[in-house]
Amino acid sequence: MFVVTGATGRTGRAVVDELLRAGHPVRAIGRRPRTLAPLEAAGARASVAEPTDRDALAEAFSGAEGVYVMVQPNYIPDSPDFPAHQRAIVDAMTEALSSAGVGRVVTLSSWGADKEHGTGPVLGLRHLEERTNALDAAVTHLRAGYFMENLLGQVASVHAGGVVAAPFAPDLPMPFIAAEDVGRAAAHRLAGATAASAGAPEVLELHGERDLSMSEVVDVIAAVTGRPGLRYVRRTVEEFAAEQRRAGVSENVTGLMVDVVHAINSGHTATLQPRTRRTTTPTSIESFVGDTFLPALRAEQPR
Ligand SMILES: NC(=O)c1ccc[n+]([C@@H]2O[C@H](COP(=O)([O-])OP(=O)(O)OC[C@H]3O[C@@H](n4cnc5c(N)ncnc54)[C@H](OP(=O)(O)O)[C@@H]3O)[C@@H](O)[C@H]2O)c1
Repeated sequence: MFVVTGATGRTGRAVVDELLRAGHPVRAIGRRPRTLAPLEAAGARASVAEPTDRDALAEAFSGAEGVYVMVQPNYIPDSPDFPAHQRAIVDAMTEALSSAGVGRVVTLSSWGADKEHGTGPVLGLRHLEERTNALDAAVTHLRAGYFMENLLGQVASVHAGGVVAAPFAPDLPMPFIAAEDVGRAAAHRLAGATAASAGAPEVLELHGERDLSMSEVVDVIAAVTGRPGLRYVRRTVEEFAAEQRRAGVSENVTGLMVDVVHAINSGHTATLQPRTRRTTTPTSIESFVGDTFLPALRAEQPR
């Protein structure tokens, strides 16, 4: 039996689906029975646990062949101290994995987790890597690239203003990846053979189908959504931070997001492993925009 944390989320749901498709028993963890119900309907067993509750997690992990561990969620916009939230989750997860004696662990980490500073919330994922490396388990860290789903934050701006506005350099290639592909890769690592062993963790970077700059992404959105006039507007970091604050994002989280922007634009956060069959994932930006971005854009339109 495999256990999936963050199971109702973007990567977690894909891990559950892929493991079930391969015929493995799955225990899905979430905070509420209501949001876990669709996973039970799909064939998983559900466990309700807060991600900081080490006793509930240890119970949910007991008897597991392997566990998918993630620090949930992506951001809490109004958090006064998001790194403290991340550390509390990492502490609870690693203590629960240890007390349940789990032998196989796949973590969701990120590009940039090799760096000791200046990467915003990725430092919390680096902490997850360090803590799980100390477990008596075969541990694989999946360092995922930049989620295509981050583009969904642009739907309103594309709809209202015909622009994609972000603080990233327009021509900088970035490893855009679909969250579903991250989840599928995690399921394969959990249930498949591994090069990792206790004391010798494995790091696998996950790139998308191809690297893309923001300008290239905007060209694809323009073509697929039938908006030939769509433009990319690069925000300064100051403009970006001011927008975040206006949207109610806390000073702490705004600072972390600014760190991410600097780290990516400067190349401090960069992919380190070459693009190979192991590191490449299948979903193209054209598929993502057609299957996910376009329906979200249509849902914005007045009917
Ligand atoms: N965005 C990127 O470009 C990127 C790149 C690399 C790595 N990552 C990492 O990917 C992870 C996010 O993965 P994901 O997209 O699969 O997760 P997600 O969909 O954002 O969230 C996963 C689950 O977190 C729970 N959740 C929501 N709000 C919460 C809160 N305030 N406190 C505690 N739990 C909450 C929800 O589950 P329940 O309500 O069922 O508990 C949700 O289904 C993060 O660790 C992020 O750093 C992101």
